[in-house]
Amino acid sequence: MSAEVIYGKDLAAEIREEMRQEVARMKQDGIIPGLTVVLIGEDPASQSYVKGKKKASEKVGMKSNLIELPASTSQEELLDLLNDLNKDVGVHGILVQLPLPDHIDEQAVIEAIDPSKDVDGFHPINVGRMMTGEDTFYPCTPYGIMVMLERANITVEGKHVVVVGRSNLVGKPVGQLLLNQNATVTYCHSRTKDLSAHTRQADILIVAAGKAGLIDGSHIKDGAVVIDVGVNRVNDKLTGDVDFDSAAAKASYITPVPKGVGPMTITMLLHNTIKAAKRIEG
Ligand code: GUN
Repeated sequence: MSAEVIYGKDLAAEIREEMRQEVARMKQDGIIPGLTVVLIGEDPASQSYVKGKKKASEKVGMKSNLIELPASTSQEELLDLLNDLNKDVGVHGILVQLPLPDHIDEQAVIEAIDPSKDVDGFHPINVGRMMTGEDTFYPCTPYGIMVMLERANITVEGKHVVVVGRSNLVGKPVGQLLLNQNATVTYCHSRTKDLSAHTRQADILIVAAGKAGLIDGSHIKDGAVVIDVGVNRVNDKLTGDVDFDSAAAKASYITPVPKGVGPMTITMLLHNTIKAAKRIEG
């Protein structure tokens, strides 16, 4: 089998155009969705990510504000800022870029964001709502994967999904969202014995381990759907967790890196911000 490639980049462009039209309609009712992104420190990768978020939100017509603070910012200062943003009626969505400097307790920061403005979907209240199958803000990368599957007309119900990776950002939540849609879900991780024995059972294989080349064609059942969430830099080149060529020879569908899942993440952040604005403005 030779796989059909699902380009998240093209899907993201399509969805962002739909959003641009929606934001234009909201503006006629006097509502401009507003996203505030907070960046602590000067990590180049984080700086590049947040600039991408700001640019994308402005492109669909949203209001976007980037607050950049030095790495020396104390936890108390950050919590005070979040308290102000929680109260600011012009701010519908708040995102604090992770990772944070070591002296700041990441979980305390996540929990300080008003759950109704938590467009990352990281607050325990939103995580809990996702677990119980309620409508809430879902984390952007897992949500982007769900939308990719849906738009590619790939049915999830009854399928055996194997998730490789168990991070709070991707692995755990994507498994939960798939379970909510009646998939049978297996989680594999760094301590899993005989990884390929599990991955070869997958109708849909989601790889979010952060290890270049972890998965190749020998791990994949003929006709499986392969979603590569890995973002690794190898010899200055961006590459996923999946060896694309050998995997594409086995799979029915596959996502590339770059231009695959990545562009969907920011798209779902914009989606969540529009949703927050609609909820808050009622
Ligand atoms: N750092 C890497 N990915 C993310 C994300 O989705 N949200 C936030 N806040 N920080 C990140």
